[in-house]
Amino acid sequence: MIEFKNISKYYRYKKIETNALDHISLKIDKNEMVAIMGPSGSGKTTLLNIAGALLTQSSGEYLFDHKPIVGNESEMARFRNNHIGFVLQHFALIKNRNVFYNIALPLKYQKMKKDQVEKIVSTVAESLGISNRLKMYPHMLSGGECQRVAIARAVVTHPNMILADEPTSSLDDDNKYEVLNILKRLNNCGATILIATHDNTVAQICDRKIQLNNGHIVE
Ligand SMILES: Nc1ncnc2c1ncn2[C@@H]1O[C@H](COP(=O)(O)OP(=O)(O)OP(=O)(O)O)[C@@H](O)[C@H]1O
Ligand SMILES: [Mg+2]
Repeated sequence: MIEFKNISKYYRYKKIETNALDHISLKIDKNEMVAIMGPSGSGKTTLLNIAGALLTQSSGEYLFDHKPIVGNESEMARFRNNHIGFVLQHFALIKNRNVFYNIALPLKYQKMKKDQVEKIVSTVAESLGISNRLKMYPHMLSGGECQRVAIARAVVTHPNMILADEPTSSLDDDNKYEVLNILKRLNNCGATILIATHDNTVAQICDRKIQLNNGHIVE
């Protein structure tokens, strides 16, 4: 489904250069669930962001379904909207909007009719156990509930690939297992899932583990 061919990523800011990914090659098949592991600063978020076309690599080639992903910002945005669901580190919910609005946001970009949006959002909210939270605002929710809202927003467009950056890092054990069960269920329904994590219990439910260190794959 995706392939990284010799991908490097450099960040340059005020003459300070960081080599976040250093000649990475990897393949991830359709319907795999893969953990991206490694210490802080090893390049996990950078790798996910390239996979989700939020960032462009400095060199090398990124293929999605055998097609290179390159283009201007609007083409990249279209690619993201059609294929990718992001579950970002620290949820990234819109604070002054309610849960319904937050979940429905990706559907707005698809110019979907209002009654259909309502139907889809309520189905997704139901499956994640947050139906009774739709009118609430993010600050009224627990961490686990916020994470489920973030997952709902990521899956509302039925993406082929879900990219989750530390989806359990701010959760207690019960909520962690709940979120992992949800991700596993989505994987069983056909989604390809990449999870960046420090947590070995997260990696254990994945099919495979990719270990990064200093921008290299070490395992
Ligand atoms: N926007 C940026 N500008 C400059 N350097 C950056 C930028 N984003 C990341 N880096 C650097 O790239 C390297 C990899 O960062 P990345 O965020 O991918 O690591 P990570 O494995 O996700 O870390 P963490 O576990 O702390 O989230 C780090 O050394 C970081 O300082
Ligand atoms: Mg990170």
